[in-house]
Amino acid sequence: MGSLTVHFVGAGPGAADLLTVRAARLLAAADVVLYPGSYLDPQVLEQCSGTAELVDTADLDLDAIVGRFVDAHRAGLAVVRLVSGDPSLYSAVSEQTRRLDAAGVPWDLTPGVPAYAAAAAVLGHELTVPLVAQSVVLTRVQASSTKMPESESLAAFAATGATLVLHLAITRTRELMVQLESAYGPDCPVAVVYRASQPDELVLRGTVADIADAVEKAGLRSAAVILVGRAIADLPDPCAGESHLYDPDRDRSGPG
Ligand SMILES: C[S@@+](CC[C@H](N)C(=O)[O-])C[C@H]1O[C@@H](n2cnc3c(N)ncnc32)[C@H](O)[C@@H]1O
Repeated sequence: MGSLTVHFVGAGPGAADLLTVRAARLLAAADVVLYPGSYLDPQVLEQCSGTAELVDTADLDLDAIVGRFVDAHRAGLAVVRLVSGDPSLYSAVSEQTRRLDAAGVPWDLTPGVPAYAAAAAVLGHELTVPLVAQSVVLTRVQASSTKMPESESLAAFAATGATLVLHLAITRTRELMVQLESAYGPDCPVAVVYRASQPDELVLRGTVADIADAVEKAGLRSAAVILVGRAIADLPDPCAGESHLYDPDRDRSGPG
């Protein structure tokens, strides 16, 4: 028996009120909820029904997680697999969905607010500022983690001058800033946002030259993004332009 879909749901950056309406509806209807305990404010789980089985995946490997999906599916139970932020970024969803396909278990994805967007909101900044930066690179660094493709080096991204958002990187802040110094300059603004949107959220602001000192002083080891680029300068860049979108001289008669 069992024909229910396993729902992979973006839990957002942690705050319960940053869940999507769809995420809240799926959580309320779920019999089994698997969640990444280290990234969620516990209030998110208050959206679940009182009878739902809640499973923290922190200590489970891939086979154990997929085993829970398949067992629940066969028992006709509704399953939500929460992932931090949005499922499209570093969420290990693809290896889970591949196994579900092989087991004949249907699944779908629900987007969530990614950490980088929550961090930008905390900073009160657009990450794209005309004439300063019009691209954002969402990347991560390799430590004792999944290998990075060789072409995706930090140096290659830095050469573009785009706004960088570094994930899973906080323990390597000092060496990363050394790598970025020649492309961005020692005075380039850097912000670190730890646990964006959660009660213990912390924001550090500095530059390529001094942010590592602040990170070490604060003792940050996880759950933080590092944003690098002149688009996040505290004072508006005097060289910045303004978007064509609301330019009074723009022809508004055709499609935008
Ligand atoms: C496994 S990745 C998951 C990313 C997630 N899928 C997303 O859309 O943001 C975990 C990394 O995301 C970042 N992260 C996740 N939640 C965060 C938060 N609330 N505040 C700051 N960074 C966060 C950190 O860099 C962390 O090391």
